[in-house]
Amino acid sequence: MRHRRRPPPGQPIPSPNIWHWPEIYEVENRAQDVDGVVFAALRRLADWTGRDVLDVGCGTGFHLPEFARDARTVTGVEPHPPLVAAARERVAGLGGVRVLAGSAEKLPVPDRSVDVVHARTAYFFGPGCGPGITEAMRVLRPGGLLAVVDLDATASPYGDWMRADLPHYDPATVEAFFDAQGFDLTRVLTRWEFQDRRALRTVLGIEFTERTAERAFTQVAGLSLSVGYRIHTRRAASGLVLA
Ligand SMILES: C[S@@+](CC[C@H](N)C(=O)[O-])C[C@H]1O[C@@H](n2cnc3c(N)ncnc32)[C@H](O)[C@@H]1O
Repeated sequence: MRHRRRPPPGQPIPSPNIWHWPEIYEVENRAQDVDGVVFAALRRLADWTGRDVLDVGCGTGFHLPEFARDARTVTGVEPHPPLVAAARERVAGLGGVRVLAGSAEKLPVPDRSVDVVHARTAYFFGPGCGPGITEAMRVLRPGGLLAVVDLDATASPYGDWMRADLPHYDPATVEAFFDAQGFDLTRVLTRWEFQDRRALRTVLGIEFTERTAERAFTQVAGLSLSVGYRIHTRRAASGLVLA
C-alpha cells in the first residue's frame, strides 16, 4: 500500500498500483473477495435495486457492472484520464452506465441525484477527506448512503504488511476519524484467491515494497489469503432538518 499520501487540494491522490500497472491491478481485482462478501455486506446496508449509484474513484470501472446488474443508473467518477478511458471501454454497451471525469472533492453530478455513493480503496483514507464527505452528502438524496470500503489494517496478515510499509499509518486514528464524522463501521473478512503463485507474487509486488512483498509471498502457503475490509457508512439526513 503505497498510495496513502494526500496531495494538495484539487490534485488526485497518487495510486501507483492502478496508475502504473492497470493490467496487474485487474488481476488483483479478480482475485479479491472471490466469495463476494463485501458486496453482500453492502447490499445489506443499502439495497440499490432500481436506484442510482455513484462509484467515486472507480479506476478502470471494475465494480460498475456489478452495481449495474440491479441499479437504475450507475455513474463512475475518476480523475486519472487513462483510467476514465479504460472504465468507459469496460462499460461500453451496458445500459444506464456512464463514466465521468472528476474527483471526490468536486463530483460532476447535481445535488440530491443519487441514492448510494460507493468508494473502494479510493480517496476516503481518513483525516483530510472531509471535502469528499461533504460532497457525497450534497449529491445524495435524503436517506441515501455513503459507503467507504477500505482495507482493514488491523486484520492479519494483510494488515501487518500494510503497516510494515506505512509505519505512520495509524488504523485507530483513521477509524476514530470516521466515527467522529458519524459513520457506522462494519468489518468483513474476505478471501483473495489467485490462479497461480506467479499472479500472487506479481500483485504483492505492486502493493508493497520489495522487502514486504517478498515476506508476504513466503507467508502465503498456497493460492489464497484472508483480507479484512472496513466498510464505513453514513446516511444523508432525511426528514425535517432544523436550522
Ligand atoms: C486503488 S484505486 C481503486 C479503484 C477502484 N475503486 C477499484 O476498486 O478498482 C484508487 C482510485 O482512486 C482514484 N483517485 C485518486 N484521487 C482521487 C480523488 N481525489 N477523487 C476520486 N478518486 C481519486 C485513483 O485515480 C484510482 O483510480
